[in-house]
Amino acid sequence: MVRRDDLFLQTKFTFRPGQDERLPYDPRAPIAIQVEQSFARSLEHLGVDVIDSYVLHGPLQRTGLTDADWEAWRAMEAIHDSGRTRLLGVSNVALEQLELLCRQARVLPRFVQNRCFAVQGWDRRLREFCAANEIVYQGFSLLTANREAMTHPELIRIAQRHGRTVSQIIFRFALESGMMPLTGTTDADHMREDLAVFDFRLSPEEVARIETLNEVTRLC
Ligand SMILES: NC(=O)c1ccc[n+]([C@@H]2O[C@H](COP(=O)([O-])OP(=O)(O)OC[C@H]3O[C@@H](n4cnc5c(N)ncnc54)[C@H](OP(=O)(O)O)[C@@H]3O)[C@@H](O)[C@H]2O)c1
Repeated sequence: MVRRDDLFLQTKFTFRPGQDERLPYDPRAPIAIQVEQSFARSLEHLGVDVIDSYVLHGPLQRTGLTDADWEAWRAMEAIHDSGRTRLLGVSNVALEQLELLCRQARVLPRFVQNRCFAVQGWDRRLREFCAANEIVYQGFSLLTANREAMTHPELIRIAQRHGRTVSQIIFRFALESGMMPLTGTTDADHMREDLAVFDFRLSPEEVARIETLNEVTRLC
């Protein structure tokens, strides 16, 4: 029997362009109402009154924050004020946008959820900002965004040295770099494998090698 306290529930508000046809809100309503409607739908689906983290799926544009972003964030802050979410977060965000959000938000984001590419130094600068501002960095697509990196001889050598799979090395690296790795699976063996990363450690040299896999790739 799983108890509510055993779970960390996180869900998102997504603007119209990121939604499919199953809209959880009236798209003609003001953004603040869309956030309320979307959140209410999430509570209903999850069968709870309170969630742990409510995330803005992403700012409307790749740079800066629009009025719509702020309207959504203010509505999320109101949900936080009401006690229906314990924490707020933001996803698919650039460093410049996160800095802006942190400067002007009344309730600060406590999570950043970004796709994490080895070829982009695993989002290093953004992760550094998070670490300095008490924000937990949730890395997603650690496997699917890094198919090429996963075949890198250096990563395979590290996996062999530890008697682990490359996926496990990536998740372990993510943990040791201060990330909260997110993944998903439909396969029970994969799930067991993904969870079996708490009984070994990478050396600082190995972490540094994986951090700079991009540069290592270019040298090979
Ligand atoms: N904020 C956003 O915009 C956003 C977007 C996408 C995802 N996310 C979040 O990130 C989470 C993970 O996303 P993701 O799918 O991109 O994660 P991922 O870890 O890159 O990929 C998961 C895929 O890898 C496979 N897999 C898992 N463990 C494996 C293993 N040990 N060996 C081999 N294959 C393995 C799974 O397939 P099998 O089923 O075959 O195991 C699944 O298709 C999602 O659940 C969601 O919460 C957020």
